[in-house]
Amino acid sequence: MDSATTLLDVLRRTTLSLDPDLLRVFLPLVALISLVLFLHQRDPLKQYPGPILASKGRSHVVIHELHRKYGPIVRLGPNILDLDVPELVKIFYSTKAQWKKTEFYHGSSSIVDGKIVYNIFSQTDPGIHTLWRKPISKHYSTNGVLPLEPHIDNVLTEFCTTLESRYPIGFLEKGCDFNGVLHAAKKSTDYFAAVSQIPVLDYWLDKNPVHRIGPPSFGAAVNIALQHLVDRSQGTDSSYHDPAQPDYLDKFIEVKKSDPETVDDSMIISYLMINLLAGADTTAITLRSVFYYGIRDLAVWSRLQKELDGIVEDKTRPVSWRDARSSPYLEAVMREAIRMLPGVAMNLERYVPEGRLVIPSATSTEASKDQDQNQRFVPAGTIVGLNPYVVARNTSVYGDDADAFRPDRWLKGEEEPEAAYQARLAAMNAADLSFGAGARVCIGKNLALLQAYKVVATLAVRYDIELANLASRWRVTNSWFPRQEGGLEVRLKMRAVGH
Ligand code: HEM
Repeated sequence: MDSATTLLDVLRRTTLSLDPDLLRVFLPLVALISLVLFLHQRDPLKQYPGPILASKGRSHVVIHELHRKYGPIVRLGPNILDLDVPELVKIFYSTKAQWKKTEFYHGSSSIVDGKIVYNIFSQTDPGIHTLWRKPISKHYSTNGVLPLEPHIDNVLTEFCTTLESRYPIGFLEKGCDFNGVLHAAKKSTDYFAAVSQIPVLDYWLDKNPVHRIGPPSFGAAVNIALQHLVDRSQGTDSSYHDPAQPDYLDKFIEVKKSDPETVDDSMIISYLMINLLAGADTTAITLRSVFYYGIRDLAVWSRLQKELDGIVEDKTRPVSWRDARSSPYLEAVMREAIRMLPGVAMNLERYVPEGRLVIPSATSTEASKDQDQNQRFVPAGTIVGLNPYVVARNTSVYGDDADAFRPDRWLKGEEEPEAAYQARLAAMNAADLSFGAGARVCIGKNLALLQAYKVVATLAVRYDIELANLASRWRVTNSWFPRQEGGLEVRLKMRAVGH
């Protein structure tokens, strides 16, 4: 006899003498409790612990704390497990794409003429996703993004001129979110992060065919994309576009010509929207992290400046990618800042495919040892995933000081044998989920790194930068992108040219 039946029997016996009105209220309640108990008994995930209620805004911190308390497996919902097991990165996020993205991602799609339109981020069907991603992926490889360096140089030069003259440019020119795109992007990711927890809600809210109840639409961003496409095809954009320096729109138009079956004008708009929206917050979060952690630690920042000073010859121009990449300490600072706060900090959900998942042993905490005693199987259809923020703090990979900002961890220690360093580095690389991994790895990774390395190197060489208030701490709101709210107040001083 199971516990649900026992409870029913007891209740049946004790309720016989009750008044019928009371029974009418009481019996459905009993049925509900019994159902819950019954489902619990058959629940294949019941051995895995988790919180009763979710938290908003700080979910990455709370989930990290839960892993400390319960070990490597934390249950986030009836059918969702968050795992802090670095060995699973290569399984869940492999290039074979057997572990399908879940409906979590659908919330970032748009609705056009009453139809839901997915993009390469939100498309969960592996076949369609490959079809859409393949034609453009070469334009996001390292060789594909390098021709964009002159564009980045132009913006960086304008940025420095702005800082030095206090006149604003672009978004900078107006000095504000002049067309509301940044506000829409913020509201939209807040919506996405919330609704993705119960994806079916999206059909009642943003995708509601009768009355849309969603975040502000991306009308302004769509208009920018559309206007550029129209101007380019009519040749009316010569004031800001030089065909000798092709941009992404040129490349997408080229792709449409060579692959018209897959890429039409609406696909071009979708590609442009991804460039406008997926890369903005993430790259900004990375830059803020580098400055927040880097300049707080004087030893780190002066070592970085010294190394770059020795590499960069012309300090009046934006630092080239070649120079930035040849600074091992810049690489260490960048990787450490991204590790401390990856630009995406929620569970990258995937479905367990046919068969089942056997979770490998992990022995990083006392709590995990308790879990090891259970057989750790997870049935097909369960949602599983790792959170880039949590796995970046795994002490079995990063050591006991995983919570500390220490760029040196990416470099070979003075006394450390080469083989030991290579093994340590390989383990850190294998656990690195800051840009995702496998078939759904971030398409914009090389572009983001090209921009971020150049910006940090250029500002470090050109200015002395210090925090306006050393005691101030940032406030992070995590809605998929963990945005540091309120910016970062710093003091800037021009360094002497030729220092
Ligand atoms: C520092 C900057 C960035 C970070 C930290 C970042 C992070 C990520 C992560 C973690 C994923 C994997 C999501 C998953 O598997 O669930 C992802 C996917 C993606 N990112 Fe980024 N990203 C950055 C910049 C960019 C840029 C600049 C672009 C576009 C130009 C971009 C476009 C995309 C797209 C389209 C996907 C989905 C790829 C696919 O599913 O095939 N990202 N990004």
